[in-house]
Amino acid sequence: MAILGIESTAHTASVGIVSESAEVLAIASDMYRPPSGGIHPREAANHHVDHLPGLVERALEAAQLGPTDLEAIAFAQGPGLGPCLRAGATVARTLSLAWDLPLVPVNHCVAHVEIARVLSGLDDPLLLYASGGNTQVIAYGRGRYRVLGETIDIGIGNFLDKLWIALGGTFPGGPAIEAEAKLGTELLPLPYSVHGMDVAFSGMLTATLALHAKGAKRADLAYSVEVTAYSMLTEITERALAHRKHGAVVLGGGVACNERLRAMVRTMVEERGGTMFAPPRSLCVDNGAMIAWTGHLAFQSGLSVLPDASAVQPRQRTDLVATPWREARAASVGL
Ligand code: ATP
Ligand code: FE2
Repeated sequence: MAILGIESTAHTASVGIVSESAEVLAIASDMYRPPSGGIHPREAANHHVDHLPGLVERALEAAQLGPTDLEAIAFAQGPGLGPCLRAGATVARTLSLAWDLPLVPVNHCVAHVEIARVLSGLDDPLLLYASGGNTQVIAYGRGRYRVLGETIDIGIGNFLDKLWIALGGTFPGGPAIEAEAKLGTELLPLPYSVHGMDVAFSGMLTATLALHAKGAKRADLAYSVEVTAYSMLTEITERALAHRKHGAVVLGGGVACNERLRAMVRTMVEERGGTMFAPPRSLCVDNGAMIAWTGHLAFQSGLSVLPDASAVQPRQRTDLVATPWREARAASVGL
């Protein structure tokens, strides 16, 4: 059997189909790109309503499967933008009722963790989850994914997107800043905000825009922002790693596509004798396959809901979600 997953927490509408052995059979996605400025939740939700039915068809066709080949329908329940989440949940409920398949709610952050974990083959890695809305260092312990450190203001991706838009670019900013940073030569001083295992980015945003107003080159700003921000993420990952028995680290979230971040974390982990793994880009950014895979894990542990108990949870936190599939394994290896 396979499982179908629906992602719609923010800018990306995506449908993924994954086998029971975590083989990605299909991903069909469409990203909402605002013509200017940031994401407007209602417009992004309208985009998802328009695109999701076609994406479901495309994914089934690509996987060469029909509804009877599916064990369940999984959907991202939270966290995310309310209207966008509701668009995905409505499609998931409709498919569940129409095809008489169980409905499985999935936490979006846990899904980024689980797809990276299964692809890495590492049993109990530390995770650096760096995306648009979230920046967290996560490890499993006593029944939950625990957030050891995180941003205390904005997510790293939102910081990059806001900065790039303020510098005259369009969403998404992360990949554009990565290209621009390759042309930079001068490392400009920017606030380096690490507080224990937490980080903050709004001071760096203000300082970068102030340097821009004084005539600093965009390429040097991009280069300096990447070096400073990714050093901060590498430092908090290293601090968390120092408290762990194993040296395994996986990356997840859209910002984990970034080559400089991957290289910096890899160097740090390997210098400590550990192993670092980053999924292919298509599985770092938001995608339906990670929702499908986590839905499979949850469903195998007996988790599913009736449509009228499947309300979305825009503020659902990583560390409040039960992960029974990890508990059984953790008990057997003594975590
Ligand atoms: P969250 O997982 O917190 O809900 P999200 O769902 O908005 O966030 P993802 O799709 O996981 O986000 O990641 C999108 C973010 O990744 C955007 O902010 C984008 O700028 C950033 N990003 C994508 N590619 C790169 C890259 N190559 N370098 C840096 N950032 C990148
Ligand atoms: Fe995400």
